Amino acid sequence: MDFGGKTAISTGAASGMGLLFAQNIASYGGNVVLCDVNEAVVREKADEINAAGKGRAIGVRCDVRDYAQVCAARDKAIEAFGGIDILANFAGGTAVRMCKVDRSVYGEFPDVPIEVFDWGLDVNLKGPFYFAHAVLKQMRAQNSGLILNIGSITGMEGDGYGMEYPTAKAGLMFGLTKSIAQFGAKYNIRCVCISPGPVLTRAAMASMKTLLGRAADPQEIVDLCLFVASDKGRFINGENIMIDGGRNAMERG
Ligand SMILES: NC(=O)c1ccc[n+]([C@@H]2O[C@H](COP(=O)([O-])OP(=O)(O)OC[C@H]3O[C@@H](n4cnc5c(N)ncnc54)[C@H](O)[C@@H]3O)[C@@H](O)[C@H]2O)c1
Repeated sequence: MDFGGKTAISTGAASGMGLLFAQNIASYGGNVVLCDVNEAVVREKADEINAAGKGRAIGVRCDVRDYAQVCAARDKAIEAFGGIDILANFAGGTAVRMCKVDRSVYGEFPDVPIEVFDWGLDVNLKGPFYFAHAVLKQMRAQNSGLILNIGSITGMEGDGYGMEYPTAKAGLMFGLTKSIAQFGAKYNIRCVCISPGPVLTRAAMASMKTLLGRAADPQEIVDLCLFVASDKGRFINGENIMIDGGRNAMERG
């Protein structure tokens, strides 16, 4: 694959698949803007990418819940590299885990403080929405671009405790992805959602069942992202693609 001359923004790029995607794009010659709330790590990872001497990178502090910070990240990408070809919305996660909710303290969904769910809805849904709004201005002017959303099998399955996560991810997988594709088509802009099952960015995901009897290696998810972002993926648009080892086809009950 060749991403020479292309520029990608990757959010949630201080760890997991957001970081791996950025490293992969750079390894194929692309420019990458690593965005995360964890500024120290994205700066360090950008330095490592630059030292490797293939693609170029900058690390930018950006809380995806803050529209001003999102616009500032977009502007830094344009200033550094002259345009934005790919936006990959990796920042996300379940609020119950990310906000370290102790399940033994709270009984059920209505007993968990609403602030926890605010966080999850904002990071998982509003963040990609904000980024789409900010970046589409640039992509429209360029008459080209791709927005990659990252959904989740949980967006299809629901979760009776951490309800914000499937709610936000389903919004991303279907409503936002199709809507951006509808807007973008006349400007040669595509939008695709890639929705993993369990991924071993955390060892605990190994316990989530799939038909194939294992969780994904993060590279397996990133490989699909790269295919969709490459010229080979140019006819894939407005679609949610499950990559879950067949979990979506498992018998229920
Ligand atoms: N790991 C899985 O099993 C799995 C399965 C399905 C979907 N996903 C989705 O894939 C994506 C990446 O998952 P991962 O496991 O690689 O993630 P991760 O937990 O390793 O990384 C998430 C990153 O997001 C950053 N982040 C958190 N809040 C932020 C904010 N407000 N603004 C900017 N950055 C913020 C964190 O600092 C972190 O670096 C997420 O959207 C997740 O929901 C993961």
